[in-house]
Amino acid sequence: MCGIVGYIGKKEKKNIILNGLKELEYRGYDSAGMAIIIGNEMSYYKAVGKLENLANKMKECQYHGDGVAIGHTRWATHGKPTEINAHPHLGEYSFVIHNGIIENYKELKDELEASGVKFLSQTDTEVIVHLFEEYNKNAKTPFEAYKKTISRLKGAYATLLVTKAAPDEIFFAKNAAPLIIARDGDEIYLSSSDSPLIGLAKEAIYLEDGSYGVAKLGNLTIFDENNQEIKPNFTELPKDKGYALKDGYRFFMEKEIYEQSQVIAECLMGRLSDDDLNLDIDISLFNDIDEVVLCACGTSYHAALAASYLLERLAKIRANVVVASEFRYKEPFLNPNSLFIVISQSGETADTLEALKIAKNANLKTLAICNVDNSSIVRMAKEVLLTRAGIEKGVASTKAFATQMICLWMLSLKLAKIRHTIDDKTLENEIKTLRNIPSVVNFDKSLQEKIYRKAKHYVHGHGFFFIGRDIFYPLALEGALKLKEISYLHAEGYPAGEMKHGPIALADEGLYTIALLPQTILYDKTKSNVEELAARDAFITTISPLEFELSDDFIKINSHSHPMSEFFEIMVVLQLFALEISIRLGNDVDMPRNLAKSVTVE
Ligand code: M6R
Repeated sequence: MCGIVGYIGKKEKKNIILNGLKELEYRGYDSAGMAIIIGNEMSYYKAVGKLENLANKMKECQYHGDGVAIGHTRWATHGKPTEINAHPHLGEYSFVIHNGIIENYKELKDELEASGVKFLSQTDTEVIVHLFEEYNKNAKTPFEAYKKTISRLKGAYATLLVTKAAPDEIFFAKNAAPLIIARDGDEIYLSSSDSPLIGLAKEAIYLEDGSYGVAKLGNLTIFDENNQEIKPNFTELPKDKGYALKDGYRFFMEKEIYEQSQVIAECLMGRLSDDDLNLDIDISLFNDIDEVVLCACGTSYHAALAASYLLERLAKIRANVVVASEFRYKEPFLNPNSLFIVISQSGETADTLEALKIAKNANLKTLAICNVDNSSIVRMAKEVLLTRAGIEKGVASTKAFATQMICLWMLSLKLAKIRHTIDDKTLENEIKTLRNIPSVVNFDKSLQEKIYRKAKHYVHGHGFFFIGRDIFYPLALEGALKLKEISYLHAEGYPAGEMKHGPIALADEGLYTIALLPQTILYDKTKSNVEELAARDAFITTISPLEFELSDDFIKINSHSHPMSEFFEIMVVLQLFALEISIRLGNDVDMPRNLAKSVTVE
């Protein structure tokens, strides 16, 4: 995810910005840039790749004296990771940097182009700087123009703008993306995270959504979402950088579980209208196909498996799912009318990449659902749908899985619309449900505390069966994978109906059954499978909105009318369950033994 740093003061600016951006490297990025204004002099630099590339371009420069500087690391979402698409974006006399997604950028861009503005980049961000300069033509002050600009933006943004029209000021705004302002005497620092600020300042303001304002040396003016000026409320900055890098969480995995609401919102942004989906992929990809093949490894494979239910149910198309390492060597029959979809967080998984090569060489249509733009898989696939989860640090995948599921659900709906297999009312309801998923995965700390307390009962015992039906079967596989990866306890996922075909032989009081018991799909069928296990004295844990009298342990979820809402809420419970057991066992949650984040060898 992108990173933002800003500074107002006398100190040398290049190094302050570069050092700040360095602190944000952990968030992942593919290009970087900075802009500096001192008096009448404006300079800017951009580079693709690592921060060293930007530092090399600026090797000879030093920027001392009163002035302003802004810097950015970009994680591509709209447009490729190129120098032109890197921030800052420039107008004639102003620069802007931005994290998030401007949902209505197309509408704003059309409007600006109609009045003669020329755009350089493919990004959504560039509209901000042009809109500002357009409004500034008639505004009383540059800040008035900025205020008007911000009022036109829809979506998520943490953004800074500097302009020659007000050379000693930084304009800032925040909505659904973090922005922090710190001060040290008269000097002001801005950042998207605590870590660049630690050591430079002692106190900071964590801006609220909808707030915006203007900073200058020794002066800070902030307005709230109702345009009321508010008194800056500074609090002490944390002192520990490690803690700050994880936004105060103990583990990256934990932070990433909490981040899911935000990244799902980003994943949806700009892609939904009330009755259609805009996935920014060439829809000729869907012409004349009679099958979808989904290919992936690990967690991404579980997303593929869950998606096969959605594709068949919604788009009425055959959906085959293959593990990439198997597909490579099975001499697969390749149907020329199939769409070959690979799913990968990293975009570098060797088996998935090889499978994609095979599909490409056979001239199949290919689509990658991936989190990392410009990765090998993204470069190779014909079309791409980016999951926008931001960098995922924890080896155990969480937010990447959540956004893969969102992309695959959106894709199923798009295909259903194109193939006329969904009526308007159902589509509208699906889209409404999708929009609500960020709140479904948003959970209260008390849920984590409750699961922490329960976790102590599970650290002994000889194994776990996670069981579910329909889309909850792949989710059961994912719950078991999460647990085994970080707790090293034996865990397997099964279709609930399969138990009596063999696995039930293992049932006894030392075997934990984690039953995914949603209300909206096959409740009675799954329940009777669980009863069969209970009759053999297995320890039963149910995750359900409905109380189940035979449960030895019960985690209640909210009642939902749509299976996908239940899916996402149970997903969070399973992630926390694995996390808390692993913590109880004293394991390294983020770097479990024997595992690598990106498996680039077969
Ligand atoms: O980067 P990818 O999605 O292609 O990675 C696939 C698997 O290696 C990955 O999902 C792995 O199973 C994770 N450790 C799951 O938590």
